[in-house]
Amino acid sequence: MARVALITGGTRGIGKAIAQNLAENGCDLFLVYRSNDQAAEACRDTIQSASHRRVTLFKCDVSSESSVGKLSGDLARQTDRLDVLVNNAGVMPRHYPIESIPTDEWNDLIANNLTSIFFLTKALLPLLRKAAPAHIINLSSIAGQTGGTIGVGYAASKGAVISMTQALAKELAPGIQVNCIAPGPVDTEFLGDELKRKLKDLDLLKRIVAPEEVARAVRFLIESPSVTGQCVTLNGGRYMSR
Ligand SMILES: NC(=O)c1ccc[n+]([C@@H]2O[C@H](COP(=O)([O-])OP(=O)(O)OC[C@H]3O[C@@H](n4cnc5c(N)ncnc54)[C@H](OP(=O)(O)O)[C@@H]3O)[C@@H](O)[C@H]2O)c1
Repeated sequence: MARVALITGGTRGIGKAIAQNLAENGCDLFLVYRSNDQAAEACRDTIQSASHRRVTLFKCDVSSESSVGKLSGDLARQTDRLDVLVNNAGVMPRHYPIESIPTDEWNDLIANNLTSIFFLTKALLPLLRKAAPAHIINLSSIAGQTGGTIGVGYAASKGAVISMTQALAKELAPGIQVNCIAPGPVDTEFLGDELKRKLKDLDLLKRIVAPEEVARAVRFLIESPSVTGQCVTLNGGRYMSR
């Protein structure tokens, strides 16, 4: 029986690479995106023709509880279990220094990068429990471990993803393994070219992480029955570079 995976932000960047990897390895996919229909349809068509797996798109704002509620209802009509949930969707802050961050932008950032994981995990738990052993994998960031360089809100949201992962791993074991991945700068449209160049110089290995490396970390986690509550770090040796 094919594994069933749902990936938020699964139609571009890191999420798309995860989707390609999981489909090539026999998963049927539900890919969630917010607004870019063109990228989503192109991603679905590419993965479907390369892998011959079932790929279904859901347009949903994961920062909205009602939107996630509708998604979980639609999903339950299409599958009776979910083996893998990848909480990957996330956004960059528009303002960095704390004195210039408007409160509504702070709330929006936390809703997108952190509260979305609460909404998705809570709503999809019944389907994950039916698939046990199942996996939840959350996207954190080096910013959540070091404070990063793109603002207090982003670092706070991604640091909280790590502690939420640990608490969920305790609460949902046995049956559901919960892990997260904390990359350094990854080669997607998320960071502009100038920021990527600047961040690359901070790392010991002086390289930008390829989205496919993050996808391989997801595969490692879902194929590792003894790993839970962990944060897989792909940061080019940042901790030792200064
Ligand atoms: N790139 C990096 O350097 C880096 C480093 C460390 C961690 N991360 C984390 O990795 C994750 C993915 O990053 P990425 O670089 O792949 O980003 P990306 O290229 O900007 O892609 C983001 C994806 O998330 C979707 N999305 C964003 N907000 C959403 C929402 N509210 N509801 C539903 N879908 C939403 C987007 O949908 P649309 O296509 O419809 O816009 C898109 O598919 C993020 O959590 C990010 O914080 C990234």
